[in-house]
Amino acid sequence: MTQPGKVLYIIVCAAGAARDVGRLVTLAQDEGWTVQIIATPPALDFIDVPGLEKQTGRPVRSQYRKPDEPRPPRADAIIVAPATYNTINKFAQGIADTYALGLLAEAPGLGIPVVVLPFVNSAFASRVPFRRSVESLRAEGIPVLLGPGQFEPHAPGAGGETSETYPWALALEEIKRHRLQ
Ligand SMILES: Cc1cc2nc3c(=O)[nH]c(=O)nc-3n(C[C@H](O)[C@H](O)[C@H](O)COP(=O)(O)O)c2cc1C
Repeated sequence: MTQPGKVLYIIVCAAGAARDVGRLVTLAQDEGWTVQIIATPPALDFIDVPGLEKQTGRPVRSQYRKPDEPRPPRADAIIVAPATYNTINKFAQGIADTYALGLLAEAPGLGIPVVVLPFVNSAFASRVPFRRSVESLRAEGIPVLLGPGQFEPHAPGAGGETSETYPWALALEEIKRHRLQ
């Protein structure tokens, strides 16, 4: 059942931790959220679509609806996790060439809180374009949970090992903080 004011969109990108996104779904549902999973097209290969549909009771969406299809419930908050190098850079640039990015492009202007929890290795994280994207999103008031005590980039090739300790709960805490302001 969709409760007004409690719809959380989780935007999943194509990174190693995506296979465990069900953990974030559980944490969010425990707090009373109705969860809608949005996957980037490449993320569909990283997630258990039927498992997540069963867990959320909602279809996983990765494409725009057809014009005659009903609108999905509006998001009250959006978490992007795991957020890739690619999606973070595109979001910061305002690119809207996937359904997930289209939602992100519009959300800040609609007043929908967005929290970004990256999952990138240290090689991606060291790049100037990436650092600029993180700064630019933060300057717009969009929290990017990157740094000490948040997501700390892993060594290249070590993503599989670190997905166990990926801080899913931090993204929910940040959304809560935002909604209390
Ligand atoms: C097995 C595998 C693991 C990957 N892990 C990551 C990752 O941890 N972080 C990242 O930014 N990109 C990672 N990539 C690259 C992204 O999948 C790629 O940039 C993709 O275009 C991202 O698309 P999206 O941002 O639309 O999800 C990985 C690719 C593969 C094949």
